[in-house]
Amino acid sequence: VKSYNITLLPGDGIGPEVISVAKNVLNLAGSLEGIEFKFKEMPMGGAALDLTGVPLPEETLTTAKQSDAVLLGAIGGYKWDKNEKHLKPETGLLQLREGLKVFANLRPASVLPQLVDASTLKKEVAEGVDLMVVRELTGGIYFGKPRGFGTNENGEEIGFNTDVYAAYEIDRIARIAFETARKRSGKLCSVDKANVLEASMFWRERVIAIASEYPDVELTHMYVDNAAMQLVRNPKQFDTIVTNNIFGDILSDEASMITGSIGMLPSASLGESGPGLFEPIHGSAPDIAGQDKANPLATILSAAMLLKYGLGEVQAAERIELAVLDTLNRGFRTGDIYSVGNKLVGCKEMGEQVLKSVDTKTPAS
Ligand code: NAD
Ligand code: IPM
Ligand code: MN
Repeated sequence: VKSYNITLLPGDGIGPEVISVAKNVLNLAGSLEGIEFKFKEMPMGGAALDLTGVPLPEETLTTAKQSDAVLLGAIGGYKWDKNEKHLKPETGLLQLREGLKVFANLRPASVLPQLVDASTLKKEVAEGVDLMVVRELTGGIYFGKPRGFGTNENGEEIGFNTDVYAAYEIDRIARIAFETARKRSGKLCSVDKANVLEASMFWRERVIAIASEYPDVELTHMYVDNAAMQLVRNPKQFDTIVTNNIFGDILSDEASMITGSIGMLPSASLGESGPGLFEPIHGSAPDIAGQDKANPLATILSAAMLLKYGLGEVQAAERIELAVLDTLNRGFRTGDIYSVGNKLVGCKEMGEQVLKSVDTKTPAS
């Protein structure tokens, strides 16, 4: 049997709930493909702060780096919101992304036929949407220097950040985006704020330069404010979107709602080499944590992305994707995607139903 080392980072809030479900799904899909997983669970985020005093303990990062792939639940919560910057769960997550050098964050958003009714958009607008947000993940305003707190020339207190991109950072995310678009419909839209921001003017210039390597991909540009509007006006005009760290964060949450719920959207964060980081795009959902209400499908689908993009185990990934569709076909829904006539279930039961489907549905090979 093939064997892989997987680092599990359950984190906070609903994180442990969705990770426990996704772990079982990985185990079963793997075993049916002759794959064995060795899981190592490590503290991260608020859980790590409570246990060790820091949001990303060295041992967690080392374990993650030495594994074949990392699956993260979510981090954060009210308890740590007032912590100093370097002692915030969110800082731990940024350190993890930086430490693993996973600069390319793929966030697919597709409207499943089973969930058209769960979208807040009209059926004819939502139906058939299938887009991929390629978000730059280790640069931009999240990491730019100078940053901090201080006083301005009038002696007033200020907080400040710097939006900055080096050519190599734009070039490498652009190449990932062009490759992604090439494998999909061949359409790439680069989203920026080049009418105002120098970092965005440079972003556009570099994306255009890289485009010459991909003459078969149709490149367009859009300002982020217009993109936010176009996403709800006519989302089907988009296929692949490439954008910077903060715009990608915001637009992917918006895109998730087209598909029905943020509880559905997985992500893969990849670097040039080394293990990938796989996580749902949602957070720790403190409002529903500990109530067995969370939708585990985003994390289960992140596990499928782990198999596909992280390990190249396409067949096992397909088993999971198929099982999710089958579970939805059989009418099971968590609260966030529920509509009348469906079977309302909690996080654990949703997981049990997906396991059933993994067991009975085999992809045509
Ligand atoms: P959130 O994504 O946690 O929640 C937003 C809303 O969506 C809430 O109403 C929540 O109940 C709902 N929701 C989210 N995931 C769901 C799921 N799987 N099933 C059903 N409903 C779900 O965003 P927030 O409330 O802005 O942030 C809460 C905390 O999570 C903050 O501390 C934030 O920093 C953190 N956060 C972490 C990550 C991450 O770990 N990658 C991502 C986003 C936010
Ligand atoms: C996400 C989250 C994170 C981000 C936070 C928690 C640091 O919102 O993964 O989308 O902004 O990248
Ligand atoms: Mn986010």
